[in-house]
Amino acid sequence: MCGIVGYVGPQPALEVVVDGLKRLEYRGYDSAGVAVLADGRMDTEKRAGKLANLKAALAETPRSADGIGIGHTRWATHGAPTDVNAHPHVDNDNRVAVIHNGIIENFASLRLELEERGCKFTSETDTEVAAHLLGEELKRQGEDLAAAMRAVCRRLEGAFTLVAMYAGDPDLVVAARRNSPLVVGRGDGENFLASDVAAFIAHTRDAVELGQDQVVELRRDSVAVTDYDGNPAPVREYHVDWDASAAEKGGYDYFMLKEIVEQPQAVADTLLGRVGVDGTLTLDEMRLAPSELRDIEKIVIIACGTSYHAGLIAKYAIEHWCRIPCEVEVASEFRYRDPILNRQTMVIAISQSGESMDTLMAVRYAREQRARVLAICNVNGSTIPRESDGVLYTHAGPEVGVAATKTFLTQLVACYLVGLYLAQMRNLKFGDEINAVIEQLANMPQQVEKVLGTVAPVRELARSLADSETVLFLGRHVGYPVALEGALKLKELAYMHAEAFAAGELKHGPIALIEDGLPVVVVVPSREGRGVLHDKIVSNIQEIRARGARTIVIAEEGDETVRPFADELIGIPAVPTLLQPVVATVPLQVFACELALAKGNDVDQPRNLAKSVTVE
Ligand code: G6P
Repeated sequence: MCGIVGYVGPQPALEVVVDGLKRLEYRGYDSAGVAVLADGRMDTEKRAGKLANLKAALAETPRSADGIGIGHTRWATHGAPTDVNAHPHVDNDNRVAVIHNGIIENFASLRLELEERGCKFTSETDTEVAAHLLGEELKRQGEDLAAAMRAVCRRLEGAFTLVAMYAGDPDLVVAARRNSPLVVGRGDGENFLASDVAAFIAHTRDAVELGQDQVVELRRDSVAVTDYDGNPAPVREYHVDWDASAAEKGGYDYFMLKEIVEQPQAVADTLLGRVGVDGTLTLDEMRLAPSELRDIEKIVIIACGTSYHAGLIAKYAIEHWCRIPCEVEVASEFRYRDPILNRQTMVIAISQSGESMDTLMAVRYAREQRARVLAICNVNGSTIPRESDGVLYTHAGPEVGVAATKTFLTQLVACYLVGLYLAQMRNLKFGDEINAVIEQLANMPQQVEKVLGTVAPVRELARSLADSETVLFLGRHVGYPVALEGALKLKELAYMHAEAFAAGELKHGPIALIEDGLPVVVVVPSREGRGVLHDKIVSNIQEIRARGARTIVIAEEGDETVRPFADELIGIPAVPTLLQPVVATVPLQVFACELALAKGNDVDQPRNLAKSVTVE
């Protein structure tokens, strides 16, 4: 949600900033803008629409730059995505330019106050108040931009990353953060700022993580961090373990296509190094003592979107293996219903980005209630893991496509590992039982590879359904969250009405939706282990078929019992029931992606969405 870039150094600032924005466009893409200094004059350009529009505008008027620049790609909150509302925003003297990610909650009263003092507003954004306040404070603070930023931040409420530059200092960019992401990239004689390391990874892999309520002064040769009162503040430095090529399309037309294909590797990487030489699981990023893990009486999983679906699947595995009651809840609802939490509750927060504001707020609430919080995240050093008691990182590598694919599969693997780890710590399973599941997990990359090798008919089928208005999805047991994920993918990418139901619930209402030719995708559980479920869903397929549905059945290869009732049969490898989502989700990702492409949609940047949503 909103991508932010800042640069100070000898390279052409405009190029560095625009290149950074390109890598952050997944965060928001309804408008974009830049500010540079040209001969000591503030020079801004901003355009509604994708980055390409801004680039075209920049190409029309070549401009020089003095070695600093800031840039922004927007996901609108206050004010429509227009040229005027795009960032940067400037003060009335055009001396200060500011870009912003987040929401300034008290902007209305601040705007009124500024207007009373004669300030002229040009946009409808909350951000513009920060530009005018910075302009005022700069005069009050003796032209010290960092001091001005600190003074402004002390007045703001809500969530924000602010980045500012001013015409009086061609070697300075200042930024501040509260509840929104911001990282510094340290270069040699140059420094970078961004919402995500992807923006500067082509220049440096040395990053500095900013803490809550900190202000950073970025110059060519220095990075100084203070709190909002000006006291030096501690920071964490780290080295990014992937390089720029990981965030490139690598010959694919879309990141999503590449990320789907990367799934076997992502799953393997997430398993790597988790099993000790003696076969025991060692999840060393877990900063929770064994005694604390043994004391847990209840688990609550919180997450949003696709991560929530991973949580729903985790519940089946954790309850089955650990016999600990496990609830799963969408993060945005969690803290508003007065949930029952205490020191014996473990909250598992699943978030690819580690920045989703709904999940972050739920984590904070859980910690206030003294629950232990374990984060499952893909982005090293992001806010949610930093604020949690423990973290298990998925190693999916950077995911740029807005719709989650490889991060979902790796979240599943991480959830299985947590379940097995808890079972191990609480002596609920024998070592050989845990090893047997670990071996099955270790086999998953191969199985996913197999699925990827057989999806050509799924693509064809998807293209044939491009004109459908509705697709329904059915599943039972872990197949139900898989069905939910399949429907979500289709909504996100193909902008189609897609809904998922627990197959058994169908007869209690939704079956009324079935009409002649309506495509219904059914995820069939394995025949082994959960034979009853399998047979029941076969009956469900017959029920919908009898009412005219066009049945698209995802079932284990060799499961001939479903063939007579399947208009289309998609085979997946036979794997243990609890692990089936790892393979069953893949054809649904391919299905949604292909159908969206057939409709001419941009699958990397679906309309109205953003990859990480940093507002509530
Ligand atoms: C956004 C994205 C979804 C994602 C959700 C949760 O809504 O569009 O694809 O699943 O956020 O994101 P997280 O980073 O917390 O997993």
